[in-house]
Amino acid sequence: MPDQTSPAQQPIVEMRKINKSFGAVRALVDVDLTLMPGEILGLVGDNSAGKSTLMKILTGAYHRDSGEILVAGRPANFRNPHESRDAGIEMIYQDFALCGNMDVGQNIFLGRWPRKGLFVDRRRMYEEADRVLKRLKVDVNSVYQRVESLSGGRQQSVAIARAISFEPRVVILDEPTANLSVMATERLLETMLELKKHGVAQIIISHRLQDIFAVGDRVMVLKRGENVGERYIRHSSEQEVLEVIVSGRRDTVIRAAAEF
Ligand SMILES: Nc1ncnc2c1ncn2[C@@H]1O[C@H](COP(=O)(O)OP(=O)(O)OP(=O)(O)O)[C@@H](O)[C@H]1O
Ligand SMILES: [Mg+2]
Repeated sequence: MPDQTSPAQQPIVEMRKINKSFGAVRALVDVDLTLMPGEILGLVGDNSAGKSTLMKILTGAYHRDSGEILVAGRPANFRNPHESRDAGIEMIYQDFALCGNMDVGQNIFLGRWPRKGLFVDRRRMYEEADRVLKRLKVDVNSVYQRVESLSGGRQQSVAIARAISFEPRVVILDEPTANLSVMATERLLETMLELKKHGVAQIIISHRLQDIFAVGDRVMVLKRGENVGERYIRHSSEQEVLEVIVSGRRDTVIRAAAEF
């Protein structure tokens, strides 16, 4: 795969020395993250490592205690996910919050149905929904189908199509393949590569290293809220990353606990 990330380029996202505590729990300690345009970054680590928290801080769903975020080189202080959406950042949560009793087209344009005078411009809505799905090569049979009648994998495709319809520069996927079949996982990974072709940078949180190795450029490991390693996929192996996840720098954490 051609490497679209040259050092001369400016990162699309830079997070520097991010700290976040929930009461006595230090969820993130001086965490750094860099994402280049068009790059696919895997974010891995054990349960409670701080992966989701870090991404929610990026979107403004959570607020950091300290640290800096730059988007395309400019300081960003998103107060909520609406503001990060306006800056071109979309996050797809694991429970992708669709309206089951509405159809595919309605879900993709939820909260912003195109209008023609007083009425919803249904024709435009369904045409555009169809266009987004085709662009992503997502195989949902019909934009008129109710979302609750779709399989989990296809519902996820709709959630992704919705995110993409905002034409983001950055897409974050939190555990997207956890509940997907083998086929649905393949389709999702293809969709990610399709987005990459369009220059969209992506962060994928996953416990499945094989998915990250299938599409990723780089992988970053968090452990107990700290950066413990980072590897370029093409210069690494699942085994090596697994070792970082399991045995990454723990001594500082243990010492801190002993002092406490
Ligand atoms: N809203 C919250 N309130 C209190 N504690 C929280 C909250 N969100 C996260 N935490 C805590 O922060 C730590 C990091 O959690 P986080 O969800 O970011 O981990 P994760 O790496 O995404 O784990 P998983 O792989 O299980 O999803 C955990 O100890 C968690 O309990
Ligand atoms: Mg999580």
